[in-house]
Amino acid sequence: MFIMKKITKPSFILLLTVMFYLPANIMAQYPEAENELDRKVLAFLKGQSGQWRDMNVPASDGIILYDLILKGNYKRAVEIGTSTGHSGIWIAWALSKTGGKLITFEIDKDRYEEALANFKKAGVEEYIDAHLGNAHQLVPELKGSYDFVFSDADKDWYKNYFIDMAPKLVKNGCFVAHNTNMRSGVMREFVEYIQNHKDFTTTLDKNSRSGISISYKK
Ligand SMILES: C[S@@+](CC[C@H](N)C(=O)[O-])C[C@H]1O[C@@H](n2cnc3c(N)ncnc32)[C@H](O)[C@@H]1O
Repeated sequence: MFIMKKITKPSFILLLTVMFYLPANIMAQYPEAENELDRKVLAFLKGQSGQWRDMNVPASDGIILYDLILKGNYKRAVEIGTSTGHSGIWIAWALSKTGGKLITFEIDKDRYEEALANFKKAGVEEYIDAHLGNAHQLVPELKGSYDFVFSDADKDWYKNYFIDMAPKLVKNGCFVAHNTNMRSGVMREFVEYIQNHKDFTTTLDKNSRSGISISYKK
């Protein structure tokens, strides 16, 4: 009661505003460290908190990817849109626990090189095979089967990436797409497409501010 009296209306509004806009990576609940690699990755991710400036996912979305991989025990992952490597580090960290590896694609040379440096600093470089190039060509050329895909590059190509990767995904494999809350026509078309796809069961993660679709292959 005493404390409530001390909080004035303007400062209460300020507090609410700060809480609303507080970066999701500061609010994020990081996994516990169990080994030396975990400690290295965590130290890097926490040190980088608030420093990701290249369209990177927030840490809270990185955790969603991490949890999905552990839950599905996925081992053969593809990421479309590396940027400077934030989501790639979360994915590779999870793969270090399942015994898997990530193939990731980035078209921009500067961001690709920064990602390579970040993978090394985080200690996850041995779990990542990073490629510089256009995913429009590289994704259709991918050989073999995969169990996890994270799509986070050019939004107007999401449907094509999905169509390319769907036959390469194993049963119970998962196609995850970022920024599905975008209101653009192409994003709406993509979400409608995956939700109505007969071979996939799709949910939209409500915990992600940007929106994450999760499509499991039947
Ligand atoms: C939203 S950012 C990815 C962020 C990253 N997943 C992260 O969280 O750290 C999208 C990236 O996709 C890349 N990109 C866009 N079109 C591409 C294409 N056709 N092939 C490969 N990369 C592409 C962009 O250069 C950009 O770095």
